[in-house]
Amino acid sequence: MTTRAFITGAGGQVGVDLIAALRERGCEVHGSDIADRPSTVDASVRWHKVDVTDAAAVRRAIQSARPDVVYHLAAILSSGGEEKPQLCYLVNQTGTWNVLEACREEKVPRVAFASTIAAFGPGLPDPVPNEVPMRPRTMYGVTKVAGELLGEYYTARGWTDFRSVRFPGLISAGKPGQGTSDYALYMYTDGIKFGRYEAFCRPDSKIPFMYMPDAIDGLIGVAEAPRERLGKRCTYNIQGFSPLASEFAEVVAAAVPGVKITFKPVEWRQAILDSWPRSLDDTVARADWDWCPKYGLDAMTKDIIPKIREKLARGEL
Ligand code: SER
Repeated sequence: MTTRAFITGAGGQVGVDLIAALRERGCEVHGSDIADRPSTVDASVRWHKVDVTDAAAVRRAIQSARPDVVYHLAAILSSGGEEKPQLCYLVNQTGTWNVLEACREEKVPRVAFASTIAAFGPGLPDPVPNEVPMRPRTMYGVTKVAGELLGEYYTARGWTDFRSVRFPGLISAGKPGQGTSDYALYMYTDGIKFGRYEAFCRPDSKIPFMYMPDAIDGLIGVAEAPRERLGKRCTYNIQGFSPLASEFAEVVAAAVPGVKITFKPVEWRQAILDSWPRSLDDTVARADWDWCPKYGLDAMTKDIIPKIREKLARGEL
């Protein structure tokens, strides 16, 4: 059981919901981010304004927090990474190295890492098994595979105990950060806010997705699983549901009267989507640490729409 957690990228889409979940479990939480504390994060969470590319600053922050676990989320996502590949390398590759080195030096027992479907490349079986050749096409994917491998290396050396989940596209009543899976989230948020959304993909695009409460359960689940149950394994596929983009549009149209969802594919973003798995095989996570998502597409839609409306009313979206 975690008592003190340190989160990098804590101001991002996953971070703010992870903070809330860990606080609910009674953990002391330290958030860190290159940005200031978001207004939605309460003042009892200690905030460290840190750029993960600054090794000394990362080490100082982790040294002062003395966490039982570091959740390393800070990253440039896939679309942002193709626009600025050098920055993506610096944040994701050097940043992960800095975090792992700080954890080794400060003897942090556990590190939980957000990996991704983008770690895979094209031409794999459907669903994609846990262990396959990793040939990503994006800088984001390349750095995430490297993060998985570095984490396994640190674990084998006994420097920390690293675990990671490969997240599919994540949907929440929140603000995403330049991902390529974001078309689905925007169908909900822009659909409700503006009554319309033009997706940057084809209607037959299909990648795996997950609702944020399941993603948070998955991340905490893998972080807290006993090492004996994992054996030497450090990285796990997890999956929720895999609708076509057109199916998302239909579900949103049925739930939000009058909404207009259209499609205008952007070639380079579509190429990223086409290089990713259509679905993941997550049986290893189910067997090793009882991973079991709660939400399907319909249950998520029912839950998320009032949450988006509440956030819009508070001016948070
Ligand atoms: N959601 C991420 C992205 O689109 C994938 O991990 O970049």
